[in-house]
Amino acid sequence: MVISLSRVLISDEVDPKCVDILQSHGVEVVTNTKLSKNELIAEIPKYDGLIVRSATKVTAEVINAGKNLKIIGRAGTGVDNIDCQVATERGIIVMNTPGGNTLSAAEHTCALIISLTRDLARAAQSMKEERWDRKAFMGIELNGKTLAIIGLGRIGREVALRMQSFGMKTIGYDPIIGAEVAAEFNTEWLPLENLWPLADFITVHTPLIPATTNLINDDVFAKCKRGMCVINCARGGIIDEAALLRALESGQCGGAGLDVFVEEPPKDYSLAKHPKVTATPHLGASTREAQSRVAVEIAEQFIDLVQGKQLFGA
Ligand code: NAD
Ligand code: MLT
Repeated sequence: MVISLSRVLISDEVDPKCVDILQSHGVEVVTNTKLSKNELIAEIPKYDGLIVRSATKVTAEVINAGKNLKIIGRAGTGVDNIDCQVATERGIIVMNTPGGNTLSAAEHTCALIISLTRDLARAAQSMKEERWDRKAFMGIELNGKTLAIIGLGRIGREVALRMQSFGMKTIGYDPIIGAEVAAEFNTEWLPLENLWPLADFITVHTPLIPATTNLINDDVFAKCKRGMCVINCARGGIIDEAALLRALESGQCGGAGLDVFVEEPPKDYSLAKHPKVTATPHLGASTREAQSRVAVEIAEQFIDLVQGKQLFGA
Protein backbone atom coordinates (compact mmCIF):
# COMPACT_ATOMS: atom_id res chain seq x y z
CA MET A 1 0.00 0.00 0.00
CA VAL A 2 1.27 3.49 -0.90
CA ILE A 3 -0.33 6.76 0.18
CA SER A 4 0.68 10.33 -0.51
CA LEU A 5 1.06 12.59 2.50
CA SER A 6 1.43 16.35 2.28
CA ARG A 7 0.42 17.91 5.64
CA VAL A 8 0.55 16.36 9.09
CA LEU A 9 -0.82 17.88 12.30
CA ILE A 10 0.85 16.94 15.60
CA SER A 11 -1.62 17.84 18.33
CA ASP A 12 0.16 16.51 21.45
CA GLU A 13 3.63 16.89 22.95
CA VAL A 14 5.78 14.62 20.77
CA ASP A 15 9.60 14.65 20.66
CA PRO A 16 10.81 17.07 17.90
CA LYS A 17 12.63 14.19 16.12
CA CYS A 18 9.21 13.28 14.70
CA VAL A 19 8.94 16.68 12.96
CA ASP A 20 12.52 16.47 11.67
CA ILE A 21 12.01 13.07 10.04
CA LEU A 22 8.71 14.01 8.40
CA GLN A 23 10.04 17.35 7.13
CA SER A 24 13.21 15.80 5.76
CA HIS A 25 10.94 13.65 3.58
CA GLY A 26 9.06 16.66 2.24
CA VAL A 27 6.03 16.47 4.53
CA GLU A 28 4.75 19.78 5.89
CA VAL A 29 4.23 19.53 9.66
CA VAL A 30 2.24 21.79 11.96
CA THR A 31 2.54 21.29 15.73
CA ASN A 32 -0.31 22.73 17.77
CA THR A 33 -0.83 21.23 21.20
CA LYS A 34 -3.26 23.90 22.39
CA LEU A 35 -6.29 23.10 20.23
CA SER A 36 -9.66 22.79 21.94
CA LYS A 37 -12.02 20.07 20.72
CA ASN A 38 -13.87 22.53 18.46
CA GLU A 39 -10.66 24.09 17.16
CA LEU A 40 -9.35 20.62 16.27
CA ILE A 41 -12.57 19.86 14.40
CA ALA A 42 -12.23 23.14 12.49
CA GLU A 43 -8.51 22.55 11.71
CA ILE A 44 -8.47 18.86 10.84
CA PRO A 45 -9.83 19.14 7.23
CA LYS A 46 -6.51 20.84 6.27
CA TYR A 47 -4.49 17.70 7.04
CA ASP A 48 -4.07 14.24 5.59
CA GLY A 49 -2.16 12.96 8.64
CA LEU A 50 -2.60 13.36 12.40
CA ILE A 51 -0.15 12.37 15.14
CA VAL A 52 -1.25 12.26 18.79
CA ARG A 53 -0.08 10.98 22.14
CA SER A 54 -2.88 10.47 24.68
CA ALA A 55 -4.22 13.96 25.41
CA THR A 56 -6.00 14.44 22.07
CA LYS A 57 -9.28 12.57 21.92
CA VAL A 58 -9.66 11.46 18.32
CA THR A 59 -13.42 10.99 18.46
CA ALA A 60 -15.86 10.09 15.68
CA GLU A 61 -16.60 13.82 15.36
CA VAL A 62 -12.92 14.65 14.77
CA ILE A 63 -12.46 11.76 12.34
CA ASN A 64 -15.60 12.62 10.38
CA ALA A 65 -14.49 16.26 10.17
CA GLY A 66 -11.14 15.09 8.77
CA LYS A 67 -12.34 14.95 5.17
CA ASN A 68 -8.78 14.52 3.86
CA LEU A 69 -7.46 12.37 6.68
CA LYS A 70 -5.63 9.23 5.54
CA ILE A 71 -3.63 8.21 8.58
CA ILE A 72 -3.69 8.68 12.35
CA GLY A 73 -0.53 7.89 14.31
CA ARG A 74 -0.32 7.27 18.05
CA ALA A 75 3.14 7.96 19.49
CA GLY A 76 2.67 5.31 22.16
CA THR A 77 0.96 1.99 22.80
CA GLY A 78 -2.74 2.29 23.70
CA VAL A 79 -5.09 3.54 20.99
CA ASP A 80 -8.02 3.95 23.37
CA ASN A 81 -8.10 7.72 22.70
CA ILE A 82 -8.78 7.02 19.00
CA ASP A 83 -12.14 5.81 17.69
CA CYS A 84 -10.54 3.03 15.62
CA GLN A 85 -13.88 1.66 14.46
CA VAL A 86 -14.96 4.94 12.86
CA ALA A 87 -11.46 5.43 11.42
CA THR A 88 -11.58 1.97 9.85
CA GLU A 89 -15.07 2.58 8.46
CA ARG A 90 -13.73 5.74 6.83
CA GLY A 91 -10.72 3.87 5.42
CA ILE A 92 -8.27 5.78 7.63
CA ILE A 93 -5.19 3.87 8.79
CA VAL A 94 -4.45 3.92 12.53
CA MET A 95 -0.87 3.16 13.60
CA ASN A 96 0.79 2.95 17.00
CA THR A 97 4.33 2.32 18.26
CA PRO A 98 3.71 -0.53 20.68
CA GLY A 99 7.26 -1.42 21.67
CA GLY A 100 8.80 2.04 21.98
CA ASN A 101 7.85 2.68 25.59
CA THR A 102 7.77 -0.91 26.91
CA LEU A 103 10.97 -0.67 28.98
CA SER A 104 10.05 2.70 30.48
CA ALA A 105 6.59 1.48 31.49
CA ALA A 106 8.14 -1.69 32.96
CA GLU A 107 10.73 0.33 34.90
CA HIS A 108 8.03 2.66 36.23
CA THR A 109 6.00 -0.34 37.40
CA CYS A 110 9.06 -1.68 39.24
CA ALA A 111 9.65 1.77 40.74
CA LEU A 112 6.09 1.81 42.07
CA ILE A 113 6.49 -1.66 43.60
CA ILE A 114 9.74 -0.71 45.32
CA SER A 115 8.35 2.64 46.43
CA LEU A 116 5.36 0.92 48.05
CA THR A 117 7.46 -1.46 50.13
CA ARG A 118 9.33 1.40 51.82
CA ASP A 119 6.64 4.10 51.63
CA LEU A 120 9.25 6.19 49.82
CA ALA A 121 6.95 9.00 48.72
CA ARG A 122 5.72 9.75 52.25
CA ALA A 123 9.15 9.23 53.83
CA ALA A 124 10.69 11.72 51.37
CA GLN A 125 7.86 14.19 52.01
CA SER A 126 8.43 13.93 55.79
CA MET A 127 12.09 14.93 55.29
CA LYS A 128 11.04 17.95 53.18
CA GLU A 129 8.87 18.90 56.16
CA GLU A 130 11.94 18.54 58.43
CA ARG A 131 10.54 15.51 60.27
CA TRP A 132 12.97 12.70 61.19
CA ASP A 133 10.44 9.97 61.92
CA ARG A 134 12.12 6.58 61.60
CA LYS A 135 9.42 4.68 63.50
CA ALA A 136 6.67 5.68 61.06
CA PHE A 137 8.32 3.91 58.12
CA MET A 138 8.81 0.20 58.75
CA GLY A 139 9.01 -1.46 55.34
CA ILE A 140 8.91 -5.00 53.97
CA GLU A 141 11.45 -6.93 51.88
CA LEU A 142 10.63 -8.00 48.35
CA ASN A 143 12.88 -11.05 48.56
CA GLY A 144 10.77 -14.22 48.71
CA LYS A 145 7.49 -12.42 48.00
CA THR A 146 5.16 -13.45 45.17
CA LEU A 147 4.34 -11.05 42.35
CA ALA A 148 1.27 -11.89 40.26
CA ILE A 149 1.33 -10.41 36.77
CA ILE A 150 -1.97 -10.11 34.93
CA GLY A 151 -1.15 -9.75 31.23
CA LEU A 152 2.12 -11.37 30.14
CA GLY A 153 2.71 -9.27 27.02
CA ARG A 154 5.54 -6.86 26.31
CA ILE A 155 5.48 -4.95 29.61
CA GLY A 156 4.34 -7.78 31.88
CA ARG A 157 7.29 -10.00 30.98
CA GLU A 158 9.84 -7.18 31.39
CA VAL A 159 8.43 -6.52 34.87
CA ALA A 160 8.76 -10.23 35.68
CA LEU A 161 12.44 -10.34 34.69
CA ARG A 162 13.30 -7.19 36.63
CA MET A 163 11.47 -8.12 39.84
CA GLN A 164 13.03 -11.60 39.81
CA SER A 165 16.35 -9.87 40.41
CA PHE A 166 14.91 -8.76 43.78
CA GLY A 167 14.26 -12.40 44.66
CA MET A 168 10.54 -12.27 43.88
CA LYS A 169 8.69 -15.34 42.63
CA THR A 170 6.62 -14.40 39.59
CA ILE A 171 3.31 -16.01 38.70
CA GLY A 172 0.97 -14.77 36.01
CA TYR A 173 -2.10 -15.13 33.84
CA ASP A 174 -2.77 -14.30 30.21
CA PRO A 175 -5.44 -15.85 27.96
CA ILE A 176 -3.07 -15.91 24.96
CA ILE A 177 0.40 -16.40 26.45
CA GLY A 178 0.43 -19.96 27.81
CA ALA A 179 2.42 -21.81 30.48
CA GLU A 180 5.29 -22.79 28.14
CA VAL A 181 5.96 -19.23 27.02
CA ALA A 182 5.57 -17.89 30.58
CA ALA A 183 8.15 -20.45 31.74
CA GLU A 184 10.67 -18.90 29.29
CA PHE A 185 10.71 -15.82 31.55
CA ASN A 186 10.59 -17.89 34.75
CA THR A 187 6.95 -17.17 35.43
CA GLU A 188 4.45 -19.80 36.52
CA TRP A 189 1.21 -19.52 34.52
CA LEU A 190 -1.85 -19.99 36.72
CA PRO A 191 -5.58 -19.52 36.23
CA LEU A 192 -6.81 -16.38 37.96
CA GLU A 193 -8.69 -18.24 40.71
CA ASN A 194 -5.47 -20.03 41.77
CA LEU A 195 -3.37 -16.91 41.51
CA TRP A 196 -5.31 -14.49 43.74
CA PRO A 197 -4.65 -16.20 47.11
CA LEU A 198 -0.91 -16.61 46.41
CA ALA A 199 -0.03 -13.01 45.54
CA ASP A 200 1.73 -10.53 47.82
CA PHE A 201 1.68 -8.01 44.95
CA ILE A 202 -0.55 -7.93 41.87
CA THR A 203 0.40 -5.84 38.84
CA VAL A 204 -1.87 -5.46 35.80
CA HIS A 205 -0.53 -5.17 32.24
CA THR A 206 -3.54 -5.73 29.99
CA PRO A 207 -5.38 -3.41 27.63
CA LEU A 208 -8.60 -1.90 28.99
CA ILE A 209 -11.25 -3.98 27.23
CA PRO A 210 -14.61 -5.31 28.45
CA ALA A 211 -12.93 -8.49 29.81
CA THR A 212 -10.46 -6.47 31.89
CA THR A 213 -12.69 -3.62 33.08
CA ASN A 214 -12.93 -3.86 36.88
CA LEU A 215 -11.01 -7.16 36.65
CA ILE A 216 -9.80 -6.53 40.20
CA ASN A 217 -12.98 -5.87 42.15
CA ASP A 218 -14.51 -6.48 45.60
CA ASP A 219 -14.78 -10.24 44.97
CA VAL A 220 -11.13 -10.48 43.93
CA PHE A 221 -9.87 -8.43 46.88
CA ALA A 222 -11.77 -10.82 49.17
CA LYS A 223 -9.90 -13.78 47.61
CA CYS A 224 -6.47 -12.22 48.15
CA LYS A 225 -4.12 -12.36 51.13
CA ARG A 226 -4.85 -9.63 53.64
CA GLY A 227 -2.44 -6.72 53.07
CA MET A 228 -1.63 -7.64 49.45
CA CYS A 229 -0.59 -4.62 47.30
CA VAL A 230 -1.77 -3.74 43.77
CA ILE A 231 -0.06 -1.80 40.98
CA ASN A 232 -1.68 -0.34 37.87
CA CYS A 233 0.62 1.14 35.26
CA ALA A 234 -1.60 -0.01 32.37
CA ARG A 235 -5.01 1.66 32.13
CA GLY A 236 -7.35 3.20 34.69
CA GLY A 237 -10.41 1.00 35.26
CA ILE A 238 -8.66 -2.41 35.22
CA ILE A 239 -8.74 -2.14 39.00
CA ASP A 240 -12.18 -1.03 40.23
CA GLU A 241 -11.31 2.29 41.91
CA ALA A 242 -14.21 2.25 44.39
CA ALA A 243 -13.41 -1.36 45.40
CA LEU A 244 -9.74 -0.42 45.81
CA LEU A 245 -10.62 2.45 48.12
CA ARG A 246 -12.80 0.12 50.21
CA ALA A 247 -10.03 -2.51 50.35
CA LEU A 248 -7.44 0.10 51.40
CA GLU A 249 -9.76 1.39 54.13
CA SER A 250 -10.46 -2.09 55.49
CA GLY A 251 -6.79 -3.13 55.35
CA GLN A 252 -7.55 -5.99 52.92
CA CYS A 253 -5.31 -4.13 50.46
CA GLY A 254 -2.03 -2.99 52.01
CA GLY A 255 -1.10 -0.41 49.39
CA ALA A 256 -1.46 0.63 45.77
CA GLY A 257 0.89 2.04 43.16
CA LEU A 258 -1.18 3.86 40.55
CA ASP A 259 0.01 5.57 37.38
CA VAL A 260 -3.33 5.56 35.58
CA PHE A 261 -6.89 6.52 36.49
CA VAL A 262 -10.38 6.10 35.09
CA GLU A 263 -10.50 9.85 34.66
CA GLU A 264 -7.27 11.67 33.77
CA PRO A 265 -6.75 14.05 35.40
CA PRO A 266 -9.02 12.65 38.13
CA LYS A 267 -11.87 14.87 39.33
CA ASP A 268 -11.79 13.01 42.62
CA TYR A 269 -8.30 12.70 44.14
CA SER A 270 -9.32 10.51 47.10
CA LEU A 271 -7.37 7.50 45.82
CA ALA A 272 -4.26 9.50 44.93
CA LYS A 273 -4.33 11.22 48.33
CA HIS A 274 -4.82 8.01 50.31
CA PRO A 275 -1.84 7.45 52.64
CA LYS A 276 -1.36 3.89 51.37
CA VAL A 277 -1.25 4.97 47.72
CA THR A 278 1.77 6.05 45.69
CA ALA A 279 0.32 7.82 42.67
CA THR A 280 1.91 9.32 39.57
CA PRO A 281 0.20 11.28 36.76
CA HIS A 282 0.46 8.72 33.89
CA LEU A 283 4.25 8.86 33.72
CA GLY A 284 4.96 5.28 32.60
CA ALA A 285 6.21 6.35 29.19
CA SER A 286 7.59 9.71 30.25
CA THR A 287 11.30 9.17 29.77
CA ARG A 288 13.54 10.90 27.26
CA GLU A 289 14.42 7.54 25.73
CA ALA A 290 10.85 6.28 25.32
CA GLN A 291 9.57 9.59 23.96
CA SER A 292 12.45 9.76 21.50
CA ARG A 293 11.79 6.18 20.35
CA VAL A 294 8.02 6.56 19.87
CA ALA A 295 8.51 9.88 18.01
CA VAL A 296 11.05 8.38 15.62
CA GLU A 297 9.05 5.19 15.16
CA ILE A 298 5.77 6.92 14.30
CA ALA A 299 7.49 9.27 11.84
CA GLU A 300 9.37 6.39 10.18
CA GLN A 301 6.17 4.37 9.95
CA PHE A 302 4.46 7.29 8.17
CA ILE A 303 7.37 7.56 5.73
CA ASP A 304 7.41 3.79 5.17
CA LEU A 305 3.79 4.02 4.13
CA VAL A 306 4.48 6.89 1.74
CA GLN A 307 7.32 4.83 0.24
CA GLY A 308 5.14 1.74 -0.04
CA LYS A 309 7.11 -0.23 2.53
CA GLN A 310 5.62 -2.10 5.48
CA LEU A 311 2.52 -1.23 7.51
CA PHE A 312 3.04 -1.52 11.24
CA GLY A 313 0.93 -1.45 14.41
CA ALA A 314 -0.45 -3.72 17.16
P1 NAD B 1 0.69 -6.15 25.12
O1 NAD B 1 -0.38 -6.17 24.09
O2 NAD B 1 2.07 -6.50 24.74
O3 NAD B 1 0.27 -7.09 26.35
C1 NAD B 1 -1.02 -7.10 26.88
C2 NAD B 1 -1.32 -8.54 27.28
O4 NAD B 1 -2.56 -8.55 27.98
C3 NAD B 1 -1.46 -9.49 26.08
O5 NAD B 1 -0.53 -10.55 26.18
C4 NAD B 1 -2.89 -9.97 26.19
O6 NAD B 1 -3.08 -11.32 25.79
C5 NAD B 1 -3.16 -9.79 27.67
N1 NAD B 1 -4.58 -9.82 28.01
C6 NAD B 1 -5.64 -9.43 27.25
N2 NAD B 1 -6.79 -9.68 27.94
C7 NAD B 1 -6.43 -10.22 29.13
C8 NAD B 1 -7.18 -10.68 30.26
N3 NAD B 1 -8.52 -10.67 30.26
N4 NAD B 1 -6.49 -11.15 31.31
C9 NAD B 1 -5.13 -11.20 31.31
N5 NAD B 1 -4.39 -10.79 30.25
C10 NAD B 1 -5.03 -10.29 29.18
O7 NAD B 1 0.61 -4.68 25.78
P2 NAD B 1 1.76 -3.91 26.55
O8 NAD B 1 2.57 -3.15 25.58
O9 NAD B 1 2.41 -4.86 27.48
O10 NAD B 1 0.87 -2.84 27.36
C11 NAD B 1 0.12 -3.23 28.47
C12 NAD B 1 -0.74 -2.06 28.95
O11 NAD B 1 0.09 -0.99 29.39
C13 NAD B 1 -1.68 -1.46 27.91
O12 NAD B 1 -2.91 -1.16 28.54
C14 NAD B 1 -0.97 -0.18 27.49
O13 NAD B 1 -1.85 0.78 26.97
C15 NAD B 1 -0.40 0.23 28.83
N6 NAD B 1 0.72 1.18 28.79
C16 NAD B 1 0.76 2.15 29.75
C17 NAD B 1 1.83 3.03 29.78
C18 NAD B 1 1.88 4.12 30.81
O14 NAD B 1 2.38 5.20 30.50
N7 NAD B 1 1.42 3.91 32.00
C19 NAD B 1 2.86 2.92 28.83
C20 NAD B 1 2.79 1.91 27.88
C21 NAD B 1 1.72 1.03 27.87
C1 MLT C 1 0.77 4.38 26.05
O1 MLT C 1 -0.28 3.78 25.81
O2 MLT C 1 1.74 4.35 25.29
C2 MLT C 1 0.86 5.13 27.33
O3 MLT C 1 -0.35 5.53 27.79
C3 MLT C 1 1.95 6.10 27.38
C4 MLT C 1 1.71 7.48 26.88
O4 MLT C 1 1.67 7.72 25.68
O5 MLT C 1 1.65 8.38 27.72
